[in-house]
Amino acid sequence: MFEQEGNRERIAAVTGASGAIGMAIARQLAAVPGHDVVLVCRNEDKAVRCVQNISHTTGNPRVRHELADLSRCASIEALAQRWERPLDVLVNNAAITPRRLTHTPEGIEMQFATNVLGYFWMIEVFTEHLKQGSAARIINVASYWAGGLDLGDLEFEKRRYNNDTAYRQSKQADRMLTVAFARRLQPFGIKVNACHPGDVNSTLSNNLGFGGHESPDEGARTPVWLATSDAGGKHTGKYFEHQRQVSCPFGRDSAAVESLYAACRSYTN
Ligand SMILES: NC(=O)c1ccc[n+]([C@@H]2O[C@H](COP(=O)([O-])OP(=O)(O)OC[C@H]3O[C@@H](n4cnc5c(N)ncnc54)[C@H](OP(=O)(O)O)[C@@H]3O)[C@@H](O)[C@H]2O)c1
Repeated sequence: MFEQEGNRERIAAVTGASGAIGMAIARQLAAVPGHDVVLVCRNEDKAVRCVQNISHTTGNPRVRHELADLSRCASIEALAQRWERPLDVLVNNAAITPRRLTHTPEGIEMQFATNVLGYFWMIEVFTEHLKQGSAARIINVASYWAGGLDLGDLEFEKRRYNNDTAYRQSKQADRMLTVAFARRLQPFGIKVNACHPGDVNSTLSNNLGFGGHESPDEGARTPVWLATSDAGGKHTGKYFEHQRQVSCPFGRDSAAVESLYAACRSYTN
């Protein structure tokens, strides 16, 4: 596990930290000595409650929140502008699975905006902060429940929307973008990995029609291991389940990975 780096704490941001798995990730990170943890949430009341709970249970006073709507590029850019410090750990975890076709105010299909572009924008917009970090790590919380990505119809304009299909596509995309960013950020020593957290009862899993047999703390274990352990820091561009690397077919198709990266880039302000 990382201890303090010189005189400075490691600074970690966790998106979707008011949710089941995100809050457990933030709490476990706050319990690791030498970590400042920032909960990136969209609802201030929930965020304040989570910060209080985590500070109280871990005894770590260096836990705070920032507000951002991760389905909107401008909101993420505003967050980055407020962020004056380096960033050592970015956990992209926020996701949504609306049962009905929903769009952001900019007209982007909501799952693609939040689950895919939200991850993409966080990495793009925070790249300079991550470069200033120390051996920075990015963890993209994805899923084994992934597949069916249609590069020609990322927003369900040609297909009938179904929240499970849109979700599986978004989690495939998270795993592909992990490979795209790992390549790009390797020269700066920034590690980028994806993982399946676990099957956890949550708003998200309920919307997909299942419950979950693992606790939020179990779900947080692999992302936190990737963020803090020596072993977790040895890899980049890989996909993990239960703290083990698992071969991922989605990252192997370099042409598709680059097409997805280019498609996401076209949504950036
Ligand atoms: N649960 C599972 O079994 C399971 C399995 C595999 C993978 N995963 C992955 O694990 C991650 C966490 O899932 P979870 O089960 O913990 O879900 P969850 O409890 O529903 O939490 C989702 C979080 O994302 C936040 N969020 C959604 N849209 C947002 C937006 N536009 N801006 C900012 N925050 C937003 C939510 O905020 P609010 O609290 O304000 O709604 C909430 O904090 C997801 O990436 C999911 O794909 C989960």
